[in-house]
Amino acid sequence: MKKDSKIFVAGGSGLVGSAIIRELKRKGYTNVLAPTHKEVDLMDEKATLAYFNKEKPEYVFLAAAKVGGIIANKNNPADFIFDNLKIQNVVIHSAYKAEVKKLLFLGSSCIYPKFAKQPIKEEYLMTSALEETNDAYAIAKIAGIKMCDAYNKQYGTNFIAVMPTNLYGPFDNFDPVTSHVIPSLIRKFHDAILNNKKEITLFGDGTPKREFLYIDDAAEGFVFLMNKFNGPGIINLGSGVDMSIKSLAQKMKEMTGFKGKILWDTTKPNGTPRKLLDVQKIKALGWKPKTSFEKGLKNAYEFYKTHYKELNER
Ligand SMILES: NC(=O)c1ccc[n+]([C@@H]2O[C@H](COP(=O)([O-])OP(=O)(O)OC[C@H]3O[C@@H](n4cnc5c(N)ncnc54)[C@H](OP(=O)(O)O)[C@@H]3O)[C@@H](O)[C@H]2O)c1
Repeated sequence: MKKDSKIFVAGGSGLVGSAIIRELKRKGYTNVLAPTHKEVDLMDEKATLAYFNKEKPEYVFLAAAKVGGIIANKNNPADFIFDNLKIQNVVIHSAYKAEVKKLLFLGSSCIYPKFAKQPIKEEYLMTSALEETNDAYAIAKIAGIKMCDAYNKQYGTNFIAVMPTNLYGPFDNFDPVTSHVIPSLIRKFHDAILNNKKEITLFGDGTPKREFLYIDDAAEGFVFLMNKFNGPGIINLGSGVDMSIKSLAQKMKEMTGFKGKILWDTTKPNGTPRKLLDVQKIKALGWKPKTSFEKGLKNAYEFYKTHYKELNER
């Protein structure tokens, strides 16, 4: 990308999209387009193609999607498969029609098999069954990967697909129902402190292991890959380190200063037992994350405390 290339960030108000915009600005890119959902509904084929034809973006970061944690995915599989298939079909096809130079599709680590060998290499895609709590979402993402691949093969486009691990940080979704594990725990611990609670109950038994990547590092990774990666195949984006949910809860307890007990509700699903991405491919290109987990977690917590009022008025 040149500093004045026209770059369209789809989903620019979300956790990932807003971080990509901040990163592009930090790096001196001056021509960034980020229409809101209201301005361009990316499920609307006609409106989206008209937008592409009018603006003629050269590069597209496809970070618009329907996203949520375990419970949201489990309760609304139809919405997750329909909305994601629709958004990616419409955006990828419009990008091809409008002759976009390069598109980066955001996948997710949940595309990999539930019992994949660890750490998970890119080539493990579609080698065995998915985790059932979010298989509708994962199937949509896999369709997006295959769609990029098919367009590259048939039309000679340059559409790449990146699989990030769990992301967290400022501007995350702190909604009590739809949030991912880190923002959900930040909310629970902070609320427990505010309400002088003696105990806090977390989902599952705490044994699953998860990998986390700080959002600003991820955004730097996406921009890096847009400039440096042209396939073949998909590429993982992660920190290369994981921890159990129990140890995450302990770190949270220390960081927030919560003095009560942590209880585990084992009637709630655990999800995939372990999910650590193999990051050799991106490492070989010369990328690694910069932010320590402690620093990233502190930033996310400070963000929640600073924006507590507005986040709880929604
Ligand atoms: N967060 C993570 O930990 C994580 C990890 C791996 C991969 N990813 C991937 O990263 C991508 C972005 O995730 P995120 O966490 O940034 O999600 P997010 O915070 O929920 O943001 C989603 C964005 O998509 C927009 N959007 C949704 N439907 C739209 C539509 N019909 N038209 C236009 N815009 C629409 C939303 O706008 P409105 O809010 O205005 O609707 C929002 O800007 C997803 O593909 C996700 O799979 C995320």
